[in-house]
Amino acid sequence: MKKTALASLIVAASSLWLAGCLDGSSSSNDNAAPAPGETAPDTRVRVLPYLQNPTDTAISVIWFTDTDVAGELVVDGVGSFTSEPELVEALGYGDSEVEYIHGERNFGGIHADVAAGQAPALPYRHVVRVEGLSAATTYEYQVRQPGSETLMEAQFTTAPAVGERASIRFLAMSDMETEPESTEKNVAWGASALMIGGDKLETDPATYDRLYPVDQTTGYRANIQYAMERQPDFWAIAGDLVEKGGRQLDWDEFWRHAAGEWSDFASSTPIFPALGNHENYWHPEGGSYTPPAVMRSYDKWNSYWELPRNYGTDERYEKRYYRVDYGPVTLITLDSSNGDDSDPLKDTNLAIDGVQSRVPDFNRGSEQWNWAVSELADAQAKGQVIFVQFHHMPFGTGVHSLPSGSAGIPNNEDNQSGQPMRIYHELFERYGVTAVLAGHDELLEYVQLDGVHYWDVGFAGDGLRGPGYAPTTDYVPFDQLPTEAQETHWSAHGDAPEIWNGNQLIDGGKHYGFLEVEVRPAGSHDYEVIMTPRYVFPLMDEQGEVTGEFAHRQYNKVVRVQVQR
Ligand SMILES: [Fe+2]
Ligand SMILES: [Fe+2]
Repeated sequence: MKKTALASLIVAASSLWLAGCLDGSSSSNDNAAPAPGETAPDTRVRVLPYLQNPTDTAISVIWFTDTDVAGELVVDGVGSFTSEPELVEALGYGDSEVEYIHGERNFGGIHADVAAGQAPALPYRHVVRVEGLSAATTYEYQVRQPGSETLMEAQFTTAPAVGERASIRFLAMSDMETEPESTEKNVAWGASALMIGGDKLETDPATYDRLYPVDQTTGYRANIQYAMERQPDFWAIAGDLVEKGGRQLDWDEFWRHAAGEWSDFASSTPIFPALGNHENYWHPEGGSYTPPAVMRSYDKWNSYWELPRNYGTDERYEKRYYRVDYGPVTLITLDSSNGDDSDPLKDTNLAIDGVQSRVPDFNRGSEQWNWAVSELADAQAKGQVIFVQFHHMPFGTGVHSLPSGSAGIPNNEDNQSGQPMRIYHELFERYGVTAVLAGHDELLEYVQLDGVHYWDVGFAGDGLRGPGYAPTTDYVPFDQLPTEAQETHWSAHGDAPEIWNGNQLIDGGKHYGFLEVEVRPAGSHDYEVIMTPRYVFPLMDEQGEVTGEFAHRQYNKVVRVQVQR
């Protein structure tokens, strides 16, 4: 790993506008700059700088402020670049969000400094694309924002050239589902029935009502601290980043964790996100999965990410599926949000109207399918080590692994099933995909099938579910898995039993975490891929009270794969 220092925040000596002193500016901006020597208006940095779309020669740095004052990105040894702030109207707040901020249940203090009855100001986006960089090189950078006392310092690293035989480490998370309500809210935490003589995939009834010992905010914060310690090259997120894709507070909370008051992980680690069902879900004026809600949720998604293009026939297909090449690794992200609305067996969300909402189908013969075929074939022909991420785990045992249908969970049908994504398995096998990174069931689970390794990595910061429909697990859809998947199945619920010393948990059980993926050259052509689920373990005293400290651990399930090229 090339990164040596974590990003830090320091206080700038002066907030005077420095126009005229800038060297090598990429652009000029005449709508925002106060005259030289003039003091810029007070400016709050709403999202710290974060990295997007790295290649071997370029990277984008994005940040948000609450005024239209241009900022300056300084890249050591490269030059300075002035931003052109752009008002982003899609990032506004509904009345219910304003009420929440000023209400009695804002335990996490989000936007606590906003005047009573007011909404936070609409933000301005700053995007600077830095080009002409050297491959696999780490650069220190600063963002100076006049009017703000926050001077942001971090570093970025360009990708190795495509096909370069470099070692890559990346992390995969899913289902953090951030929202301010996650503070002081602890999720259900059922334990395997194994210890009471039951099936390991069932749940001990004595733990049906048991809650996890730390709340979701604390757990996810600890998880990000561990993730930062691992210094990955990039951070893949397989969907359900936010609780409600059209609720601005939930996005604000996401950035508090990723590039804000709680961490600046995304300042030095590019995010490659996939849409989950929650990124299509709910808007304060638009219902849950109605076309206006889906569209407005996408407008927020589209405001934050800068990703490689797919050149889809609808501009709203951009950033929903895309390909990233990073040295020897190709990551293909698919959009599993919605399938064929005329056939529940081919649809992952029976509530979304894909045509009205302009969400692409994923089924055989669809535009997205054809795109995936050509990208997979090309990546394979180039000898890349291929990973695919999307939200809906196709071969899981959780609630969303029931067959697709509208009969309801008591009748063993789920209207947001991952099973329809099984159609991609033939492509993954044919084109030599090493691993599929998914979520949605909100558990940690693994199967191997025909040489493809499938992970549900949905334990980042929200649910810590078990198989079946928690908590009762009357039926666990294990028999829905192909035979080989049943034989290779592993889950944190069933295979990492809790070990207690009285009231004190010593080891085992389900905890917040991420999957770490290492790709290393082996021999003259091949690669070794090592996949390790890691988690933060909340330390307890002998009375069973959490101490506030977390141990950084890994599950006893390390998957090593030899990829022959
Ligand atoms: Fe989720
Ligand atoms: Fe989901």
